[in-house]
Amino acid sequence: MEKTVATEEREGEVAEQVVNPWQVSAKDGGKIDYDKLIVQFGCQRLDEGIIERVQRLTGRPPHVFLRRGVFFAHRDFNEILDAYERGEKFYLYTGRGPSSEALHLGHLIPFMFTKYLQDAFKVPLVIQLTDDEKCMWKNLSVEESQRLARENAKDIIACGFDITRTFIFSDFDYVGGAFYKNMVKVAKCVTYNKVVGIFGFTGEDHIGKISFPPVQAVPSFPSSFPHLFSGKDKLRCLIPCAIDQDPYFRMTRDVAPRLGYHKPALIESSFFPALQGETGKMSASDPNSAIYVTDSGKDIGSKIRKYAFSGGQDSKEKHMKLGANLEVDIPIKYLGFFLEDDAELEHIRTEYGAGRLFTGQVKDRLIQVLTEIVERHRRARAAVTDEVLCLRFLMYMRYIH
Ligand code: TYM
Repeated sequence: MEKTVATEEREGEVAEQVVNPWQVSAKDGGKIDYDKLIVQFGCQRLDEGIIERVQRLTGRPPHVFLRRGVFFAHRDFNEILDAYERGEKFYLYTGRGPSSEALHLGHLIPFMFTKYLQDAFKVPLVIQLTDDEKCMWKNLSVEESQRLARENAKDIIACGFDITRTFIFSDFDYVGGAFYKNMVKVAKCVTYNKVVGIFGFTGEDHIGKISFPPVQAVPSFPSSFPHLFSGKDKLRCLIPCAIDQDPYFRMTRDVAPRLGYHKPALIESSFFPALQGETGKMSASDPNSAIYVTDSGKDIGSKIRKYAFSGGQDSKEKHMKLGANLEVDIPIKYLGFFLEDDAELEHIRTEYGAGRLFTGQVKDRLIQVLTEIVERHRRARAAVTDEVLCLRFLMYMRYIH
């Protein structure tokens, strides 16, 4: 059974860690316990068997985020693969809530992975920009949320999606018609108590928040996009995201069969941690916790040197004797996400763990790796002019047209 927050509490467990779309924090300054999260949320672990299956079906080596367990949980991904094996297509759905001018490295993770899935399976993709969500949660004006959505769209497009198969839309522009009809159908299936159980809303929250979840739910249903999927109401949907978005899709999966749709499948990642350590996710709300795709090489260097939590020992002698504690070391964690060469990563882990490499050296390598990624992204983004936005992408942003 897919569990709600309320179910958790009824079972007598005081929440030890908080993971929801608005807050990610571990218990008592510790690390997020992902095994526990799988049990709490009632999702499935992404095991070796599935990774091998993806490799076999796509004829491509698994993405580094699959090989290294960054994407660690799923819901019904097997069913997507079964259908694909039978020759049925599916579509991908992911999104972004535009709360900051630029994306940070954590945001890039689902988009980089979605690009890999789109290339590997050759399927359509819809990307939702929830400018309405951020307007309500971050108290931004409608106009400012729309402006941020447009800036973020450029960063997303710079990830290199297949322009013939990708539809990007802002809620303020697109919600209406078939999409809105589905929202109303979903809303009728979800009681106030249910939404409080899933999202933890209180009586102090404004009704905009309480009524928002159907907006994020309905891109999971193909009929919300008649210009893309007309007559294909049974097309399956796969959602790549970090596990903080799971509550929205627990709700969606609950109502989908009642509306005659397949439950959307999910493939879920762990969090790219804050510079300060693994107690939380890299978050746009705290600029010192995050590296943005707009940061210069110099900014990246100074943030990593100043803030990246080190598992190295505090004196050279002690470090040579005891080695670094890799379990808490942020530079090693970051290299695990972004250094593609498995052999080099293993070498750094071994030498650093044995005290033969020092924090400064590991940070220098990380700065190089991240600067390359951010520079590449900057070049790709510079090519995304307003003209590219409206001409080359199947994009729904009226204020650009
Ligand atoms: P948002 O803008 O908070 O995040 C965008 C995407 O990035 C993921 N994410 C992270 N992944 C790894 N490490 C991190 N530190 C990190 N921080 C954020 C999020 O899980 C998300 O996948 N309400 C959503 C927007 C949305 C959406 C969707 C997301 C609408 N429809 C469908 C995923 C799938 C939001 O505000 O995401």
